[in-house]
Amino acid sequence: MSKTPPVQTNMKGILLAGGSGTRLYPMTLAASKQLLPVYDKPMIYYPLTTLMLAGIRDIMIISTPADLPQFKRLLGDGSQFGVRFEYREQPSPDGIAQAFLIAGDWIEGCPCALVLGDNLIFADHLSVLLRAAATRPKGATVFAYQVRDPERYGVVSFDETGKALSVEEKPAYPASNWAITGLYFYDNRVAEFARQVRPSARGELEITDLNRFYLEEGSLHVDRLSRGCAWLDAGLPESLMQAGQFVHTIQARQGMLVGSPAEVAFRMGYIDADALRAHAAKMGKTELGRMLRELADQG
Ligand code: DAU
Repeated sequence: MSKTPPVQTNMKGILLAGGSGTRLYPMTLAASKQLLPVYDKPMIYYPLTTLMLAGIRDIMIISTPADLPQFKRLLGDGSQFGVRFEYREQPSPDGIAQAFLIAGDWIEGCPCALVLGDNLIFADHLSVLLRAAATRPKGATVFAYQVRDPERYGVVSFDETGKALSVEEKPAYPASNWAITGLYFYDNRVAEFARQVRPSARGELEITDLNRFYLEEGSLHVDRLSRGCAWLDAGLPESLMQAGQFVHTIQARQGMLVGSPAEVAFRMGYIDADALRAHAAKMGKTELGRMLRELADQG
């Protein structure tokens, strides 16, 4: 990744990091899932870097009342990464689309992206895709990825011209094997649409129902991620371990960092070499600290 000039966008970003993480019990009995380590960093660093790569600098972190103080302790006000963090509570996990109700006044009629705190996306050309999504003036953009078990996800199907035809949440009989990843970009009508979403049969405000508003209007863009990309959700013990191994393999083999907000902040020009060095110093004698120091010295 070379140094990239910041993209001009007024888009805000929400990082949703609540839920109870029951599928990771007992690890999450006393700790937030999104703070568990994915190799050498807390899980939340990875989706955070995804938002930052899209050029988004106003970021709201939403989590449970019990976990929010830990996120504040880890991330602060954002100045260490040249961005601004806001924090809000989600009292109970009533659905992903609820994020836009919680953040409604803060969004202030701006376009807004949402990333799930347990979603990790790695791709060579990812920043190009993200920037295109963040600067698209109208509609919504989601990313689809081919999986073996689509019934676990939101699923999108396509017509013969490649246009999105349907979106369904965890269908028993999936119309395709294209899962919708936990990264969403919406135009400035998102809070208005979110207010119209009604609870599903399982009692949640579904993100898929919000996406359907855009689909029916003909403004849902679906970018299909190629097989060279990796999309991992770290919600199960096995996928958490696989995500950690993946990060370790890339970092050890290529000497490149994955999911470092400090690196992305530096490359995007949000912080200078001195700020990066100060951040590296806080990491002490770790490998991460060494890699960040090297980056600051290379300039
Ligand atoms: O990972 C992508 C999938 O994420 C999408 O394909 C699905 O359409 C979408 O519904 C979602 O499915 P999940 O089954 O993974 O959703 P889950 O309930 O596990 O929530 C995903 C993350 O969001 C999880 O880390 C907890 C957090 N969350 C979830 C809900 C419902 C919240 O913070 N608050 C909530 O109210």
